[in-house]
Amino acid sequence: MPQILDGNRVRDDIMNELKPRVAALAARVRPPGLAVVLAGHDPASEIYVRNKVGACQDLGIRSETLTPPDSISTEELLGMIAQLNARPEVDGILVQLPLPPQVEAKRVVAAVAPAKDVDGLHPCNIGNLVAGLPGPRACTPAGILELLKRYGIRMAGKRAVVVGRSDIVGKPVAFLLLHEHATVTMCHSKTADLAAVCREADILVAAIGRAAMITGEYLAPGVTVIDVGMNRIDNRDEVARIFRNSPRKLAAFDKRGSVLVGDVDPFDVAERAGAYSPVPGGVGPLTIAMLMANTVSSAERRAGAC
Ligand code: GUN
Repeated sequence: MPQILDGNRVRDDIMNELKPRVAALAARVRPPGLAVVLAGHDPASEIYVRNKVGACQDLGIRSETLTPPDSISTEELLGMIAQLNARPEVDGILVQLPLPPQVEAKRVVAAVAPAKDVDGLHPCNIGNLVAGLPGPRACTPAGILELLKRYGIRMAGKRAVVVGRSDIVGKPVAFLLLHEHATVTMCHSKTADLAAVCREADILVAAIGRAAMITGEYLAPGVTVIDVGMNRIDNRDEVARIFRNSPRKLAAFDKRGSVLVGDVDPFDVAERAGAYSPVPGGVGPLTIAMLMANTVSSAERRAGAC
């Protein structure tokens, strides 16, 4: 039986470690402050932001959510960010992605003050990551590293294959793995014979955004699999196919009208992997925990505590 890399357990540990740091800041200066910008009405983003705000409440971090309409322009969003940059009680700023299509997302992300960039996506902080300098790391990649480290998965000298080259996950996680001395290969939609490259992996990170695309032929026996995919399936036949007619999954679908599946085939990974992060309950909870960690670290730095 493969080892399950339980993201909920690691999330709870990280949150418990953060509590005394938040309490110390609250006693000495003020509670950490996080501002979240949620533009428009993307349903998945609304759920993510609700969970982020809930985590702030659990820890005693002061949060505020700004909700500009779908029609907001780049210039208006830049003005909003400038105001948040200038407010001393705001330690962290998170612009939830994706932004509406008319907005120049890269300009908005680059407008956040690097010291308040708790998402770790500002070009300065990406530069810090590549150079191995301190700075906030992107939350999902940082969460993946916490999961691997806390389960004692060795990275030094191992072959790590990252499938997907997004700015949020693929690129930063590749550099984090490289800094742990893994031999890293980055794959994408143009990679020739993707399955053969994936079969060379000791550690496989799937961050493609395609439901159950990574099947048994991509997995070497004993591989550690990190599944970053969060794909909502709203077609019953598709649920039946991916989950091999599982009565439990079909009942969940009949109740809710959709079910979540990762980028990795859930049955093949359970059969072949040595360890894997499930969907849900793997990487997802860690993204929020690392956002909290980045916010607390930012507040400590800005308060001169470290
Ligand atoms: N949308 C999906 N994941 C993320 C994330 O980690 N940060 C932001 N800002 N938006 C996201």
